[in-house]
Amino acid sequence: MISLANSYSVYDPFARIYNEYYANREETMQLLEMLQLPHLTQEAHILDLGCGTGQVAQLLLKKGYKVTGLDESDGMLHYARKNAPGANFILGDIRYFELPSTFDGVISTGSSLNHILSLEELKGVFHNVYTAMLENGLFLFDLYLEEYFQSENDSMIAGDVKDEYVWGARASYHVEEKISQTKVTIFELLKENWQRLDITMLMKSYSREEVQSALENVGFTEVSIYNAERLFEKSGTAGEVYFVCRKPLS
Ligand SMILES: C[S@@+](CC[C@H](N)C(=O)[O-])C[C@H]1O[C@@H](n2cnc3c(N)ncnc32)[C@H](O)[C@@H]1O
Repeated sequence: MISLANSYSVYDPFARIYNEYYANREETMQLLEMLQLPHLTQEAHILDLGCGTGQVAQLLLKKGYKVTGLDESDGMLHYARKNAPGANFILGDIRYFELPSTFDGVISTGSSLNHILSLEELKGVFHNVYTAMLENGLFLFDLYLEEYFQSENDSMIAGDVKDEYVWGARASYHVEEKISQTKVTIFELLKENWQRLDITMLMKSYSREEVQSALENVGFTEVSIYNAERLFEKSGTAGEVYFVCRKPLS
């Protein structure tokens, strides 16, 4: 395993909870089935950026694809290796990775790219993806836009009560900086004592236009933007969008 990142990530202490709470990734698979997988061959090699606990990787493996996951959190990768033992996992930072052009498809789901906090760095990510892809390959990722962060501003967005832990997450959106801050508080039963842990996760909102222009500047073509609300005919997902684009033949 190549190590391209610092050993600590804000997701490390949250990994066990993420692995259990976000275990069902059927909707993500539906999305990939609709927009990407039909355009790949059965032998395709897929790179999953910010792969987290590897649940999506596992479902892709089951379909026969070859999968490589990249994530900066060793804690998340600990579960990914258990969930998807047939995949290759790399501890690394999406902003700085360099992989040879071997991937037919690249995905980034679960809003991983909102964790990239500046447009310059996001362009850098797109450049790294472009380099890692084979010609004619497809890149698919999801993003939350400003309206999504505004809709969940100042509210509890998730949480759960289990025998061994209790947690809750509260989000607030800072309009000027276009930054959403999610404060997660975890109480965990460790050696018969309840211990409290607080973590803060930051996400940045980008507009459709700036993301599309960044993709095109790097060389991607056929950029399409889909609205989750329309695609899944589901209310409460305004501002959740999917981008699909292609690395053209030279
Ligand atoms: C919300 S989780 C999504 C996980 C997975 N893609 C899914 O759909 O369940 C976001 C993931 O992005 C990873 N991440 C955030 N910033 C990153 C970076 N700069 N480099 C690599 N991974 C990053 C986190 O460690 C975390 O595992």
